[in-house]
Amino acid sequence: MKKTNEPQIKLDVNHMMSDIIGYQYGVDSHEVLQMADAAAAAQMAVEKHRGTGWLGWTELPYNQAEVLQQIEEAAVYVRENFDSFVVLGIGGSALGPIAVHSALNHLRWNELEKRNGPKFYVEDNIDPERMASLLDVIDLKRTCFNIITKSGATAETMSQYLIISDLLKKEVGEGWQKHIIATTDKEKGNLIQIGKQEGFRMFVIPDGVGGRFSELTPVGLLPAAVCGIDIRAMLKGAAAMDARCKTDDVRVNPALLEAVLQYIAVEDRNANVQVVMPYADSLKYMADWFCQLWAESLGKNVTRKGMAVNCGQTPTKALGVTDQHSQLQLYTEGPFDKVVTFIKVEKFRSEVEIAHGCEAFKNVAFLGGKTLNRLIDAELQGTEFALYQAGRMNQTIILPEVSAYTIGQLLFFFEMVTAYSGELLDIDAFNQPGVENSKLASFAVLGNTDEKYQAKAKEMQDRPELLDRYIL
Ligand code: PA5
Repeated sequence: MKKTNEPQIKLDVNHMMSDIIGYQYGVDSHEVLQMADAAAAAQMAVEKHRGTGWLGWTELPYNQAEVLQQIEEAAVYVRENFDSFVVLGIGGSALGPIAVHSALNHLRWNELEKRNGPKFYVEDNIDPERMASLLDVIDLKRTCFNIITKSGATAETMSQYLIISDLLKKEVGEGWQKHIIATTDKEKGNLIQIGKQEGFRMFVIPDGVGGRFSELTPVGLLPAAVCGIDIRAMLKGAAAMDARCKTDDVRVNPALLEAVLQYIAVEDRNANVQVVMPYADSLKYMADWFCQLWAESLGKNVTRKGMAVNCGQTPTKALGVTDQHSQLQLYTEGPFDKVVTFIKVEKFRSEVEIAHGCEAFKNVAFLGGKTLNRLIDAELQGTEFALYQAGRMNQTIILPEVSAYTIGQLLFFFEMVTAYSGELLDIDAFNQPGVENSKLASFAVLGNTDEKYQAKAKEMQDRPELLDRYIL
């Protein structure tokens, strides 16, 4: 690895490899090298097409000088005029903002008396109780809403918009439009038209950036800047990871090695599940963001040439140490169908000492004088060891610290792994046709009279009649 003084994230795959965890389930380094050509081809394909088609996101660390300034100005406007900032969005328009805010800001941000920005909410569901409860805790007159939807047409987000704009008109009256910032495609969908009509402040999600790859656009950068995060450092981190991905050598490029290892794990070891398990509360929602990226990008039924594959490793999340007391039993003794990806933080932003006490109880007293930092690290080591002894594949992504710079690296790392994996599987990692059917069916249920929904309504009627005897 190139020497640098900047904190670099690391990928430790020791516990994936057969010479460490044994030959039955570990990956042999020869298997990796056998895939070196395919890996190089995947890396070269991404490089060749970078910035074009759906690889627009690869250029985000470099091509946003102008928009960064506008984002920073908008952030100042929000910070000076509002007490709460609410993102209305779903999927890729919500998970990134949640993950980055949770990673980089105080873990109890909204409860803090002195905060470096407004209270922050991301409303990524349409549960009526949730909307009602939000309205119970915010003051509309002091709240700015960021409506985020790439397609400008997502029913969940547009319903939220209808509710909120109606309330703003009633409660704020003239000037209600100043409470809304829209982030959407430059021409597609309804939101851009509505925004122009109403005169909202607006940000564009650039071409070639799908929802789940959009965290480093205004989708994620505006909410981050509003909450005082150094968005330029985040982009610098992404660029630093990009630089490490410039080589097609699978022994050097960390994202390429990771893509190859997961490919082998799934194809040859039936490790159809990847558990992402951060040992840090700040990174809990990074696992959520990863799950969408991995699932929606790689869960596909056909290759680019139309051959049936039904591929995709199922991502799932766990939290260290919490889930040691919930999931770990399954990981160590259940089916050999998983890779566990730990995310470790070397230097936490706080250190908490464990007080001395309970001297009469040796097994309690020995904890006194140590720190929670040491304890969480020891528990991670313990879990890694337990999985190692059980011959289970696991790996660790190490963050020297959680900062805007390392988070930028982590986001870009996962995005690159996903793009390379799409190449190795020869699938379109950037579409999501499987989500469409449910959307059509829901609109049909709502009685949308458009032809395509009517056709879906007919298909739904043709389903065998549901039987009472199966409902208890
Ligand atoms: O990755 C994707 O494109 C999707 O998951 C979208 O982010 C999600 O469906 C929300 O779409 P939109 O941003 O268009 O409202």
